[in-house]
Amino acid sequence: MRAWRVHELGEPADVLVLEDLEAPEPGPGEVAIDVEAAALNFPDVLMCRGHYQMKPPLPFTPGAEVAGTVRAVGEGVDPGWIGRRVLGIPNFGPGGLAEATTAPLGAIHEIPESMGWSAAASLFVTYQTGHVALHRRAHIQPGETLLVHAGAGGVGSAAIQLGLAAGARVFATAGGPEKVEVCRKLGAEVVVDYRAEDFVDAVKAATDGLGADVIYDPVGGDTFDRSRKCIAFEGRILIIGFTSGRMADAPTNHALIKNYSVVGVHWGLYALMNPQVIADTHTELMRLFDAGAIDPLVSQELDLEEVPQALDRLATRGTWGKVVARMR
Ligand SMILES: NC(=O)c1ccc[n+]([C@@H]2O[C@H](COP(=O)([O-])OP(=O)(O)OC[C@H]3O[C@@H](n4cnc5c(N)ncnc54)[C@H](OP(=O)(O)O)[C@@H]3O)[C@@H](O)[C@H]2O)c1
Repeated sequence: MRAWRVHELGEPADVLVLEDLEAPEPGPGEVAIDVEAAALNFPDVLMCRGHYQMKPPLPFTPGAEVAGTVRAVGEGVDPGWIGRRVLGIPNFGPGGLAEATTAPLGAIHEIPESMGWSAAASLFVTYQTGHVALHRRAHIQPGETLLVHAGAGGVGSAAIQLGLAAGARVFATAGGPEKVEVCRKLGAEVVVDYRAEDFVDAVKAATDGLGADVIYDPVGGDTFDRSRKCIAFEGRILIIGFTSGRMADAPTNHALIKNYSVVGVHWGLYALMNPQVIADTHTELMRLFDAGAIDPLVSQELDLEEVPQALDRLATRGTWGKVVARMR
């Protein structure tokens, strides 16, 4: 089987090597998956660079989100899983940017026959993160205002859809007119090109000066600093990521004076601390998908060979929605 591997750290297009390897076999409690589709994520770029919080030993295959068919089961796993269609997170090391991978049974979830492979591969990390962040961490309520930064991105586009599904008024920021249009089409009511204008005034104007109740921030840096200026009384700023490259400091006196919360979100940690949250969220996401309330924005389907250049585009703001590698 073919798999992208990283032997030394650096930019994806410089360090990814396409290799022919033996298909990995499942260990105890694991399944082996024939991968049909793998969605790309910003953490794949960070992992190639060695900048991600978790660092697999070299050589490794990046790719954190796959959909495919269970080919084999390891010791202790019900053989009834063989042949089932699943999505989930592959093991570190074997990774997802490959024609086959392995995963712990607890990291995969069944998907309906009717769901396409690209949609399935895109319905896990970003939607799980968005749902857990908005509902479990921020307790978003119908009628509240939600501002989503980098709204045209993978994480952002999912958050816009989930905010609308929760009955919120959704605003977004995005870099450049094309991405602004993407956010509008997703249903955001107010969209600001934050590379051209300040979003603080726009949010205040749209909320009678009150600010946004929930701010979803995968960008960090200056974007976080400015978000503090338009967060509402009892608002919640969700810390999702740092694509700007800078982790901002949160002055505690400001949080006190304005009565808002800065809320950390590390969705992956639920796999360790409370896996039931992930299972319940999967059930709810399948329900929302079935009801037509969410539908991943798959902007591009690629052949496996095209992955490194696509990851470079993802790293340099050149993609929107989800980019998915198809294995066959
Ligand atoms: N907390 C969690 O549990 C969790 C889970 C999943 C992902 N994440 C994080 O969420 C973030 C977004 O991931 P993603 O896969 O959805 O990526 P993405 O949003 O598809 O792409 C990143 C976007 O960030 C924006 N951006 C702003 N400044 C940037 C800069 N200096 N360089 C590059 N991009 C910049 C760009 O949008 P504009 O051009 O519109 O500005 C870019 O398109 C990542 O930091 C990731 O690690 C966190």
